[in-house]
Amino acid sequence: LEIYLQGLSGVVPTLPMVFEELERRAQGALPASVWSYVAGGAGDEATQRANVAAFQTWGLIPRMLVGAVERDLSVELWGRRWPAPVFLAPIGVIGLCAQSGHGDLETARAAARADVPMVASTLTVDPLEDVAAELGETPGFFQLYTPKDRELAESLVARAERAGFAGIVVTLDTWVTGWRPRDLATSNFPQLRGHCLANYFTDPRFRAMLGAEPAETAQAAVLQWATTFGHSVTWDDLAWLRSLTDLPLILKGIQHPDDARRARDAGADGIYCSNHGGRQANGGLPAIQCLPDVVEAAGDLPVLFDSGVRSGADVVKALALGASAVGIGRPYAYGLALGGVDGIVHVLRTLLAEADLIMAVDGYPALADLTPDALRRVALP
Ligand code: FNR
Repeated sequence: LEIYLQGLSGVVPTLPMVFEELERRAQGALPASVWSYVAGGAGDEATQRANVAAFQTWGLIPRMLVGAVERDLSVELWGRRWPAPVFLAPIGVIGLCAQSGHGDLETARAAARADVPMVASTLTVDPLEDVAAELGETPGFFQLYTPKDRELAESLVARAERAGFAGIVVTLDTWVTGWRPRDLATSNFPQLRGHCLANYFTDPRFRAMLGAEPAETAQAAVLQWATTFGHSVTWDDLAWLRSLTDLPLILKGIQHPDDARRARDAGADGIYCSNHGGRQANGGLPAIQCLPDVVEAAGDLPVLFDSGVRSGADVVKALALGASAVGIGRPYAYGLALGGVDGIVHVLRTLLAEADLIMAVDGYPALADLTPDALRRVALP
């Protein structure tokens, strides 16, 4: 309503209202190698495109005479109330998208302002303690890329717990980086190198391993890479991960219902259905297509979802398919690139406003009303 009323008085938003325009303008605003890093995906990016396109294979069927004047989008997850079932997915080295270089702090500031929970990546440029401080009362989660060195994992999780994060998200699908032709073609890794390190340099275990004064050296970058990636987490590691923290443990990258079931049986507190936005493996299913089976297998565990969410309509469809909350990825990186903190807040508010309005117009005023019955399959031409 606020946006419409401003429009009537001649004030139109300076930032894009639809994803395609947001993406196009972000491309113009970012250096080519950063653009490739954020926008690119695995292989010929067929899975990445399918993630987005698959949302069109479901349509919401409206209900009339419901009187959906009041909507309630709030949800309780792991003991905390979220104003809406939407969160910021972890984006490593997002500092590259921010003019200030402090993309994690800006993201946290935007999350706090919009009161939208944030998952902070292991690969934050800013130290995770500083990110937590910016979040204030808004729930934050720390995403762990399980390093080869167990003590480093223990140190990162302990820091996250001390800093006040509300849960630990362990990403399972990126123990090795996917085949990303755009990254390879633009060789952005030298540019990334200096940017990944601040979170590590504040880590006592990492510094002990480095055995040198903190400096953004090639040696440090190589050590970071070597300790972060290459540890292929298995079911045998889960008990150890579980033992690291009393915080909710959420497993990211699950697409197969058997994995969801096994994760639940192994003591996970949440399942995060995602294919990493199509950045890891090409040739896979659109993530949204995996969601219903994962939800069923997860039983009473909350299921977070991301990959391909571009609009408020997509948010509503993912909720109807059983997601407890829906993660926003690339759109907020583009918002950051275009408008810093304000840009992210704009992206979040437009998504939420659209989702809320769809729930009103289509007669689904409460989250409990959004079930698979609200959807019909659409035969695409
Ligand atoms: C990611 N993603 C990601 N995930 C994660 O667990 N840790 C990370 O550090 C990153 N880093 C990262 C960087 C960039 C540039 C992107 C675009 C994505 C994956 C992210 O959390 C999420 O799964 C996807 O972004 C969702 O897909 P869409 O919505 O961006 O297409």
